[in-house]
Amino acid sequence: MADLSIRLVPDPVLRVVCAPVTEFDAALAELTTGMLAAMYAAPGRGLAAPQFGVASRVFVMDTTWKDADPTPQIFINPEMVDCADDVAIWEEGCLSIPDRTIRVARPASVTLRWQGVDGAPQTGTFTGFAAACTQHELDHLDGVLCTDYPEAP
Ligand code: NI
Repeated sequence: MADLSIRLVPDPVLRVVCAPVTEFDAALAELTTGMLAAMYAAPGRGLAAPQFGVASRVFVMDTTWKDADPTPQIFINPEMVDCADDVAIWEEGCLSIPDRTIRVARPASVTLRWQGVDGAPQTGTFTGFAAACTQHELDHLDGVLCTDYPEAP
């Protein structure tokens, strides 16, 4: 069975600025399959590649599976292209920081551009918890953790 273990702080891979994906090959598909398995097993709603020990610009997310059917989403080379002026505060946890949550203020909605596992360009706008989750996972790709933020009131 594949190793589904998740890296915990203070593992240095969590502080790396991750490299863009350039090869949309079987290894990338295998990575995302493993990441989704690890995320669901944890159980969590988002997982970034560095948390899986791989310093690549990849994250996976499924914000609704705990309440509905699984809807796995895979983001390769994601970038934020727009965000709302208004701010929302969510209580965030991180699979790499066990037993800790923090209230983080972030833009209430964001528009991302990314590629699928096949390299196809995609865009999407995320609101509510998904907006916070995508920003949390994007941060991981730059070595930023939710606990780096000041606790929101
Ligand atoms: Ni996290």
